[in-house]
Amino acid sequence: MSSEPQQSSPYPYATPDEPRHLTDDDLTLLSRYTGEKDLDKLREHVYKIWRAVKSELWIYACIQRLMFLQPRITGHSFYPKALGALKSSSELHILDIGCCFGQDTRQLILDGVPAKSITSTDLTPDYWKFGKDLFMDRDTLAVGEAFGSFTDPGFTAAGGPLGHLSGRVAYAWAGAVLHVLSEEDVEAFAKHVLGILAPGGVWFGTCVGSDTAGEWAATPDGSAKRYLHSPSSLQSLLQHIGFAQVDVVGSTPPEMNGMNADMVQIGGQTF
Ligand SMILES: C[S@@+](CC[C@H](N)C(=O)[O-])C[C@H]1O[C@@H](n2cnc3c(N)ncnc32)[C@H](O)[C@@H]1O
Repeated sequence: MSSEPQQSSPYPYATPDEPRHLTDDDLTLLSRYTGEKDLDKLREHVYKIWRAVKSELWIYACIQRLMFLQPRITGHSFYPKALGALKSSSELHILDIGCCFGQDTRQLILDGVPAKSITSTDLTPDYWKFGKDLFMDRDTLAVGEAFGSFTDPGFTAAGGPLGHLSGRVAYAWAGAVLHVLSEEDVEAFAKHVLGILAPGGVWFGTCVGSDTAGEWAATPDGSAKRYLHSPSSLQSLLQHIGFAQVDVVGSTPPEMNGMNADMVQIGGQTF
């Protein structure tokens, strides 16, 4: 994949030439997870990986801003409940969908969830491989891994990479994923999440939203337009698909502060 491919509508967040300055706070998860206390050394390690990713892969706005160092899952109000259950029963399983570098996977491990209860999945292994360099756990990370599109029925169907988990997943987490998909793909993605959940299972996540639902910038491959749901349109879609209880909450999360004005306007939502 080349960096920032040509798009039919401009992506409003041009990748800066150099990464922003990382504060000591930015490095908390990485330092705790790796045990490396020398924060200057960690800063250089992150910058080196960021430059390598920039030269090879599509740089989402959250990657531009190095937001992949901060756990996102801990900011969701459902997290404490999921965490408590996952720690109390090794039979329960959680999927980190659209895991990217995998900061939430590492947060789950730090918080005491057994690695065998976690499967991390993304469209391709590209960011995930860099994540193993970032978190320095290439030889030790023992979570499940699967790569392919959650919009593809074959990915979660019997015989597919995630077929063994169909109907068995207690918790599906998708942080900042839906807004990178087209309208059609959001629907397909949500249907496959419902299909992989165990009875009583819960999907929770975050995405960028809009007060008025509609198309936004092009998808990274330029083949379609991303779609931003409003809280009510996402609520209706998830109910229509068959989720029994749906709660979509519009908000402006702290990580949106300091973003471009149009990004702040569209805000975020949790479900
Ligand atoms: C904006 S990043 C968010 C990453 C991470 N979850 C976070 O919270 O920082 C969106 C992620 O969704 C993944 N993604 C995009 N389309 C996908 C698809 N169809 N199926 C699964 N993952 C997808 C991308 O590869 C990327 O890792």
